[in-house]
Amino acid sequence: MSVNRVVLVDAVRSPFGKAGSLYTGTRADDIVVRVMRGLFERNPKLPLDQIDDVAIAAATQTGDQGMNIGRSASLLAGIPHTVPGYSVDRWCAGALTAVTTLAGAISMGSYDIAIAGGVEHMGNHPMGELMDPNPRYLAEKLVESDALAMGNTAERLHDKFPHLTKQRADAYALASQQKTAEAYAVGEIQRDLIPVAIRNPELGYSIATVDEPPRPGTTMEALAGLKTPFRAAGRVTPGNAAGLNDGATAAILASEAKAKELGLPVKAILVNFAFAGVEPEIMGYGPVPSTIKALAKAGLTIEDIGLFEVNEAFAIQVLAFLDHFGIADDDPRVNIHGGAIAVGHPLASSGIRLMLNLARGFEKHPEVRYGITTMCIGLGMGGTVIWENPHFTGDTSKNGKAK
Ligand SMILES: CC(C)(COP(=O)(O)OP(=O)(O)OC[C@H]1O[C@@H](n2cnc3c(N)ncnc32)[C@H](O)[C@@H]1OP(=O)(O)O)[C@@H](O)C(=O)NCCC(=O)NCCS
Repeated sequence: MSVNRVVLVDAVRSPFGKAGSLYTGTRADDIVVRVMRGLFERNPKLPLDQIDDVAIAAATQTGDQGMNIGRSASLLAGIPHTVPGYSVDRWCAGALTAVTTLAGAISMGSYDIAIAGGVEHMGNHPMGELMDPNPRYLAEKLVESDALAMGNTAERLHDKFPHLTKQRADAYALASQQKTAEAYAVGEIQRDLIPVAIRNPELGYSIATVDEPPRPGTTMEALAGLKTPFRAAGRVTPGNAAGLNDGATAAILASEAKAKELGLPVKAILVNFAFAGVEPEIMGYGPVPSTIKALAKAGLTIEDIGLFEVNEAFAIQVLAFLDHFGIADDDPRVNIHGGAIAVGHPLASSGIRLMLNLARGFEKHPEVRYGITTMCIGLGMGGTVIWENPHFTGDTSKNGKAK
């Protein structure tokens, strides 16, 4: 058994849509297949027959997200039938888990090249579809009923941290919208979007090229006036939460040696990762213990991290993470191009969106050695992946102690 360094060769995504809008009439599997093909088109040096495995995540695995979406999407994308595939489910962290699971196999030498991805068509598969929670959860008070509704868990975080006010959550959400608008204005986000053919029942065929959810005209006044759908007089609103979205992501992972042999680019080097659990009622707090655990495993501290990609399921949950580590709400190292509050959060696909944003951040910031991608996960979990910048130009003997 060997321990190989694992690299992110490339990652892409579809434009994200609002559930029941852009991708109405387009199948979930067709979106992820198009994204995989786009990934292969921009990496012509990748020999498809040398891929060792394909892992695609979806939080709901029925219908057009069922039939073992990993294997099915692989065949539909034109990967030879000799290459196997499987499906992953860790709710919102599906694609993130596809990456870490495949990375483990690459690290131990079983695989050289693998494809990770995620898809969620929340229009075709509303959150909680076909969910049948065991009655013991509530009968035995294993969890409060709030734990199963993500918006309520975000309200609970506001209860737990009263100093993280609605006003701070709204200001954070506004900044996410503004950063996304700025990134769009200079073409930053578009670089990693794979255009997807869509079929609108009324308008016919067209091509989705940009994200549908962003609201560049957002103001603090408008945010302040929004209803709180999860609790009367609550603090979580449609403006400071991620929406209900459709979209897909995909990434190429490889051992460093294989990437070098094939002349593939390296966008990020995996350092380590961790998952951790918290009380399901405050699921948004999950990234705190998973980050503490991942940093400890990597022999790093939070001060070593120069870029953060934190999934914005809810503004309060990002604020709780930043607050724990003593990072300001508007720290410029965090979500440099905005996040899910602006572009959307098609559940199982989002983990790879964080990675492609981080990879772009690494290109722009050669002075940064380490970055993290982290997200909260339903039923009380967090996942964190620590990455090293292949473009780092500083002194590697001083900055951090990654193994
Ligand atoms: C919060 C939530 C319930 C809102 O759903 P929704 O009502 O369908 O959202 P909409 O986009 O229609 O927005 C509702 C209203 O707020 C307004 N709004 C939303 N964002 C706004 C913004 N940034 N500025 C101004 N107005 C905004 C909309 O215009 C709309 O107004 P209208 O009712 O007058 O048309 C839904 O997005 C949700 O459940 N999000 C969380 C998803 C989740 O749990 N993910 C998993 C995380 S672990």
